[in-house]
Amino acid sequence: MIFEQVTTGGCQSYLVGCPETLAAVLIDPEMSQIDRYRALAARAGLHIRYVIDTHTHADHFSAAKALSEGLGAPAVMHRESAAPHATLRLDDDDLLRVGRLRVRAVHTPGHTRDSMCLVVGDRVFTGDTLLIGGTGRTDLPTGDPGQLYDSLFGRLLRLDPALLVFPAHDYKGRTHSTLGAEIADNPRLQKRERADFIAMMRDLNLAAPTHLTEALRTNMTGGKTVDQLLGEAAADVPFIALTDLDQRLRGRPNDLLILDVREEAAYRAGHIPGARHLPRGQLELRINEEISDPTVRIVTCCEFGKISTLAAATLRQLGFTRAGALDGGMKAWREGEFPLES
Ligand SMILES: [Fe+2]
Repeated sequence: MIFEQVTTGGCQSYLVGCPETLAAVLIDPEMSQIDRYRALAARAGLHIRYVIDTHTHADHFSAAKALSEGLGAPAVMHRESAAPHATLRLDDDDLLRVGRLRVRAVHTPGHTRDSMCLVVGDRVFTGDTLLIGGTGRTDLPTGDPGQLYDSLFGRLLRLDPALLVFPAHDYKGRTHSTLGAEIADNPRLQKRERADFIAMMRDLNLAAPTHLTEALRTNMTGGKTVDQLLGEAAADVPFIALTDLDQRLRGRPNDLLILDVREEAAYRAGHIPGARHLPRGQLELRINEEISDPTVRIVTCCEFGKISTLAAATLRQLGFTRAGALDGGMKAWREGEFPLES
């Protein structure tokens, strides 16, 4: 088995390939690692056949939709998943053939209704059903502690205890465990009575994960994260460095149209010398009267350099072929003690 474990903070994802055929499957990919997965697959000569999410993640941004589209491989989830972009939906005990490897789905609801574990050869990818020394929480949407108990004690823990456990999370730098070791040592699995287990899970009182709203929104609908939206805009736009803009303003007649897209109060409090003001919210409404020459070189700026990127991308779509954005925002401009005008 060709095997790569990719860690992003506490999130674990896996590239698993068949050494004979070089077919591969990607499990629980995370948005910021898209280039890495593709590069790892290319380096190992692997062809990714399936992109699988073990469940609807509430705490990180799944790359399943983006990679499935980019690779032309099905996005695989359990049948209970709400995600419209899941193009192949599995039932309990369904097998995926990945070259000579077999990926078996074991439906293990509890952390979420659509949770499944994936058995491949000598290992099981447990998603958030079973973690090393823990279990997934059951207090997020579609979670159910009784179902988690049934999935663990009635299903997962009855598999071969020698199976290696690779979870979707580990926050302590551990890479894997075994089912046998978890049965023996995992504190949550010592509550072997159903009612005790449910009471323990109900008493955990965990804080909500960061990015909960955005992760659920994007993972359940296939919509974009804000970072994704900004990243796509940034890919289509050239930038100019703060120091280069400063030099240009000092050294020669200004041939740039600097467009400050912040709100009026921010603009009035201090802007780049000579910058014109056109708030992002009015860009499309006023652009025809404000800028008549589509070939003028434009540099947009805003407070943090994000909205200005969107503004520059919009200007390019409108035909301003030399629109770009400041690499950084007015906050960085002020902190760099570059000249201001108010
Ligand atoms: Fe999860």
